[in-house]
Amino acid sequence: MVKSGITAVLASMMVFSATVYAEDTPGIAIPPAIQSAVKALGCDACHGWERTKFGPSWQNVADRYRNQATYTYKGFNINSAGEKLPLVAGLVTKISKGGKGEWNEYIPMAPNDPSGIHAKEITSIVNFILSVPPKK
Ligand code: HEC
Repeated sequence: MVKSGITAVLASMMVFSATVYAEDTPGIAIPPAIQSAVKALGCDACHGWERTKFGPSWQNVADRYRNQATYTYKGFNINSAGEKLPLVAGLVTKISKGGKGEWNEYIPMAPNDPSGIHAKEITSIVNFILSVPPKK
């Protein structure tokens, strides 16, 4: 009796934690177009909404740039003065051309769209990331 009770508790805990692990969503619904663009461009290999992977979680990105108007794009040369751009354009440039040093000195983000062919999707992803509300 006791043993099966413990087993049941353990089993339910495992189900619970597996659910928590699989659940990695922002506090608002992700539009289907954003979800499919993130998958198609492979961003989710390195980014979670709330989980930090190789790259920062997008919740942390939203929190960091909330209320900022500009972004200084430094690319891979973190000691350069960089190029000061409007926030969305700056983040789109970072994602498209790659760069490092904003979150982690050692892990760069490789260029995801050097030719700019996916500028529209990447811009929509950035706008959505920036709309993610603070975590309650
Ligand atoms: C191979 C792993 C990888 C992939 C794929 C990737 N990223 Fe990143 N991303 C990173 C890393 C690492 C950083 C942190 C770079 C830094 O510290 O400056 C980052 C940073 C970012 C940032 C914050 C930029 C900043 O300067 O604050 C955003 C936004 C972002 N990525 C969005 C995306 C989007 C959208 C995609 C898909 C088009 C994508 N990433 C694909 C690894 C990746």
